[in-house]
Formats: sequence, structure tokens, C-alpha cells
Amino acid sequence: MTTTDATAEKSTDELAKDLSSRGDTRSQRPNSEAFREFIASGWDETVPDADRLEAADFTPARRDALVRRIPATRMVLPAGVLKVRSNDTDYPFRPDTAFAYYAGLGTDEEPDSVLVVEPSAEDPARAQATYFFRPRAGFDTSEFYADSRYGEMWVGRRPTLTEAEQRLGIEVRHIEELRDHLAKDVGAQLSLAVMPSVDAGVEEMVTQIREQNGLPTGDEAAAENAALKEAASEARLVKDEYEIRQMRRAVDATIAGFEDVIRHLDRAVGHERGERVIEGVFAANARAEGNGVGYDTIAAAGDHACTLHWIRNDGAVHADELVLIDAGVEVDSLYTADVTRTLPVSGTFSPTQRKVYEAVLKAADASFAVAKPGVKFRDLHAAAMDVLAPILEEWGLLPGTAAESLAPEGQWHRRWMPHGTSHHLGMDVHDCAQARREMYLDAELVPGMIFTIEPGLYFKENDLLVPEELRGIGVRIEDDVLVTEDGVENLSAAAPRTADDVEAWMASLRR
Ligand code: GLY
Ligand code: MN
Ligand code: MN
Repeated sequence: MTTTDATAEKSTDELAKDLSSRGDTRSQRPNSEAFREFIASGWDETVPDADRLEAADFTPARRDALVRRIPATRMVLPAGVLKVRSNDTDYPFRPDTAFAYYAGLGTDEEPDSVLVVEPSAEDPARAQATYFFRPRAGFDTSEFYADSRYGEMWVGRRPTLTEAEQRLGIEVRHIEELRDHLAKDVGAQLSLAVMPSVDAGVEEMVTQIREQNGLPTGDEAAAENAALKEAASEARLVKDEYEIRQMRRAVDATIAGFEDVIRHLDRAVGHERGERVIEGVFAANARAEGNGVGYDTIAAAGDHACTLHWIRNDGAVHADELVLIDAGVEVDSLYTADVTRTLPVSGTFSPTQRKVYEAVLKAADASFAVAKPGVKFRDLHAAAMDVLAPILEEWGLLPGTAAESLAPEGQWHRRWMPHGTSHHLGMDVHDCAQARREMYLDAELVPGMIFTIEPGLYFKENDLLVPEELRGIGVRIEDDVLVTEDGVENLSAAAPRTADDVEAWMASLRR
């Protein structure tokens, strides 16, 4: 029997019991009746009214769109489960993105909970949503004081049913009612789909209910689940007003984090793992101002900048180098920025560093110049490549002409710019990743889309095809962009981009 099967067959209570006994060999918890009675008594049980979440005004329209796209289906969106880090210690919980989008919940809410979205009985074009979770346990339960994974004394309290209802503005139920709710009326007229790979226990429950109610399992069920995943991904391609507000907050907090990094750059230079100093300063800002970092910070000095996802960050930061910092604050609603600035550690670009920097900036500006509604997403990348290939030709690096390189059978320039120029951005740093190609790369830009523009050039120190002066220089400039009615707004414009402005920015912060 696999772990997944075992998990599926156990009740939530049994699982909680298993988990609460983690680390029991060193437990010295008292277990007398007198202790249990005493610890259950004398607590103030008042729970003040909760405020309705800002997102609760936007989630109904999102859910209506979902039931219109996938009709006659009860859709199950689990928040996900805690992941063990070691023994009785878990990683911080982050809910599944689709759950967060349709429920409106962010931060660490709420492991093991489930949102169910289905057509309403009165109007099948409107959604009925129910949130299932395990509400706050009573003071008279052993969970309260003895359960290090879920207990109020250990990890803080969960909301009550009333609080959850007040915050979300939808019906809420105890998680123990989930199975009955999922099974009700399922059959020829109403299918049942689940967001795959989020919660194995809930997925197994859905499979069993499908079987019991004559719905196909196997490939057909998998196809329905994949359609749900695709729909949830494509729904987020165009952001609503609330999401745009959250993205502005994420970007602003990120730029404040970059500024703090610059203030601490001298400390990084003096430390043998200066990249970690940078990572730490940014992380402190992200945690104080938001939920944390939206992805692992890339703090890459010198040649490390040529490793595209350098997150080991254990290198020194030398004064004569560039340092590439790719970082984003994820705010409490889980929206994240994704910004890169490449800074001269000394405060001044050398002529060669400036030459590479300005080539990348020109490529970025070319993408900005074409970005407007009606243009295809893929054209953003093409515009940047149309700039970089001729520059690399001029520098004598290409084995042919820029035109030959830009042709599909050439592409030599991609040796030094191997990644894409843009990706959608939102709750996931690489947002909407399950969207179909025709909805992503081949789609036209429309107002409300948010994506990055992030060309780069990377000359590795062991690259024998480039002159020595270029080796060990990596530059990326990454901005977060909102499509407007007639162009784009650079959400991260407050972080200087030109070489002169970057130097002035650093000088102003480092005094
Ligand atoms: N930070 C990862 C990326 O820029 O896509
Ligand atoms: Mn990016
Ligand atoms: Mn990035």
C-alpha cells in the first residue's frame, strides 16, 4: 500500500492523531485528568466579528466565469496539505494558487481546507460556493494544547465557522461534511472534477465518489481535472482591479527591498558570502512588508549572474563586479513582483559593463515599444531579439549575420540570451503556466494582463567565443508591466533602469 492510499483511507481525525504523536518519544506532557480539566478551563472564549476580505467582492465574478466555462460540474479546489520538513516540523504553508484565487484567501490559510464551486440551483450560469474547513477546536480538546501541528497553543488558532463566513461572504461548513456534499446528486446531470496534484486525500475521495455514482474514472476523469486546471490558469491571464492593486503593492514593496539592499551593499562586499547578505536583507523586507519572497531570491555577483537561476547565493561580492539581483515580494494576498536590477557594486559601471548593460536596456526598451493591445505576446520576445542579434553581430560574436541568426534555423544569439523575454506574473511568479499556447504565446495582449519584460546577456567566464573583457559579465533588467488601453504601464518604473539613473540611485542610497 502506498502512502497516498494509506492517507486516503484514514479519516482526518486519524491523520491528526498520527501527526500529533510526531516526536512523542521525547514528550513529557502531563496526562492526568486533573491536568486535562485544568488546562481546559479559564479561557476567554469571545471571538470578535471578522472583517469581510477585500477579495470577497471579486471572487463571485471569478467563480461565475468558472461555472460558465465548465458547466454542469461540481469543482473541488483543495487548499493543499502541510509538507513535512523533518519529523514534527512542517514547511510554512502556502495554499494552492487556484484555491486562493477562487476563495480569496492568502497567507497560510488554511491547510486541508477545500473550496467547492458548482452551478447554483436557481441559475446554472451563476456559481454557488461552499468553503469546507476544520474550524477552531474547543479548549476542551487535546488538540488545543497537545497537537503541535494543528493545536491553538502551538500554531495559533483557526477561524470559527462564523468568522470564515464573515470574511469570505460564502457558505461555510465543517470539513467532515465534505464527502456528503461532494456525493450529492452527482451522476449523469452533474459531474465532479478536482484540481489535480494538490491534496491526494481529497483526490481519492473524488475518485471514489465518481466510481460510486457511475462516472468514468481513469483518463476521462483526468481530462476533466486537467480542463479545470487549464481554466483556472487561463482565468488569471487578465487581472481584475483587486489583483492589479495587489500587484502594485507587491512591486512597491519589492522596490523598497532593493533600496534596502543597496543601503547594505557595503556590508555584502565585506562578507565572504556577500550574496547571502543581499538575500537576507531582501528577505527581511519581504517578511516584514509581505508574506515573504515570491520565489527564491537570485543574488548573483560576477560570473554567478550567468547562471540563470542562481539561488545558492554563497559567493562573495567584489567591488569591481556587477551584481544581478532578481527578487520579488509576495504580499499577503499571494501576488508577487518579479524584478531584476543589475548593479555595479562600486556604484559606477566600467565601460565594458556599461556597454553590455546598455545593450540589454535597448532590447528591453524595444519590447516596451511594441507592447500594446492587439500585439501578440510572442512579439515582445521577437522585439528584444531584433535588437540583441545585430548588437552581437556588431561585436563580432556571431558566426554569421544577425539576419541569419534571427532565422529559425540560426538562433546563435540565444547562446547568450537563452531564456524567454516575458512571462505572465501574478500569484505565481510564472503565472498562468497551464494556459494553452494560443492563450499565452500566440495570444494578443489585452488590457489587464501583467507580465515581465526581462531580456539579458550572459557571458560566462569560460566562454571562449567572447573576448576576455566580456567574460564573467551577466546582465538582466526585468520590469513588471500592466497592459493599458493603448500601451503598457511599467509598474516597476520607480526602480531606475538607465545606467546613469542606476548610478545616481545607488549614490543617493549609499551616502
Ligand atoms: N525570477 C525568475 C524569473 O525571472 O522568471
Ligand atoms: Mn521573471
Ligand atoms: Mn525574475
